[in-house]
Amino acid sequence: MKILLLGKGGQVGWELQRALSTLGQLDAFDSDSPGPVNAPDLRADFRDPDKVAALVRHIRPDVIVNAAAHTAVDKAESEPELARLINATTPAAIAAEAAKLNALLVHYSTDYVFDGSGQQARNEHSPVAPLSVYGQTKLEGELAIQSSTCRHLIFRTSWVYAARGGNFARTMLRLAAEREQLNVIDDQIGAPTGADLLADVTAHAIRLVWRQPELAGLYHLVAAGETSWHEYARFVIEWARARGQTIRVAPDAILPIPTSAYPTPARRPLNSRLDTNKVQQAFGVNLPHWQQGVERMLNEIIGG
Ligand SMILES: NC(=O)c1ccc[n+]([C@@H]2O[C@H](COP(=O)([O-])OP(=O)(O)OC[C@H]3O[C@@H](n4cnc5c(N)ncnc54)[C@H](OP(=O)(O)O)[C@@H]3O)[C@@H](O)[C@H]2O)c1
Repeated sequence: MKILLLGKGGQVGWELQRALSTLGQLDAFDSDSPGPVNAPDLRADFRDPDKVAALVRHIRPDVIVNAAAHTAVDKAESEPELARLINATTPAAIAAEAAKLNALLVHYSTDYVFDGSGQQARNEHSPVAPLSVYGQTKLEGELAIQSSTCRHLIFRTSWVYAARGGNFARTMLRLAAEREQLNVIDDQIGAPTGADLLADVTAHAIRLVWRQPELAGLYHLVAAGETSWHEYARFVIEWARARGQTIRVAPDAILPIPTSAYPTPARRPLNSRLDTNKVQQAFGVNLPHWQQGVERMLNEIIGG
């Protein structure tokens, strides 16, 4: 199996480099990666859909995994054209090439396609209504892939973290070491999901879809359980405190605040619960509780 991975340096892309490596021959690119030896002008820069399409035609993969995206949710509000190019126009161009090659396209989307009203977990049939440019352009990417004739897997996920690079837990640990009081949003509910979990399920799903093409489609994929950013922050900080890390903030000085007290350029859904029954049943996967993956990440970044 020949696999083309795009966005190899992001949180999910980095883990995919590991998880996809046993599936077959892997060619992995970032926006600034040099082109292939025999086509050095080709690039995987999503600001240039034609060039990315030409790269796909040149490589002729059996499977394309797209982990590249414009993920700066607040910045996207002031640069919607760029967000659309990266999140929708280029994925559409990739889907068109995938259809011609009869390749499987794997793509990631987000809970931000929903408006986050109510308390129920949303499934793959729930109505979409994005609140932000990021959510809108990610939805346009989904629709473009679905309306192409390419075989595809789209995984909608939420609150992605990885041990590598910056993340919410690292930010909370830094602030907890510096400050005597922390205010953290407690009315957005979701499931922190590890990039490693996403990559492992992706590799497993590709193997199964390869043999059973009818399994292709749209899936919700997040860790089990639910939490708020406030509860997530407390979990991380108390885990670190119990292991002797320097923590200045007292447990009762980690204060819950509503989203309305922390205005940002992009509106975010309050209810990010995603129903994962479909992915569990189709692929026979067990999705571990969010705390399990977060503890593992904490062990990697600060030691057990
Ligand atoms: N992060 C989350 O909380 C979250 C939640 C729900 C869904 N998702 C989805 O999950 C997927 C993976 O997200 P992630 O968290 O791994 O994102 P990430 O860490 O921000 O990585 C994004 C990747 O996209 C690449 N990229 C950005 N602009 C590009 C361009 N012009 N051309 C080519 N590549 C470009 C980045 O490369 P450079 O750094 O080189 O630009 C990076 O490798 C995305 O589809 C995202 O929408 C993420």
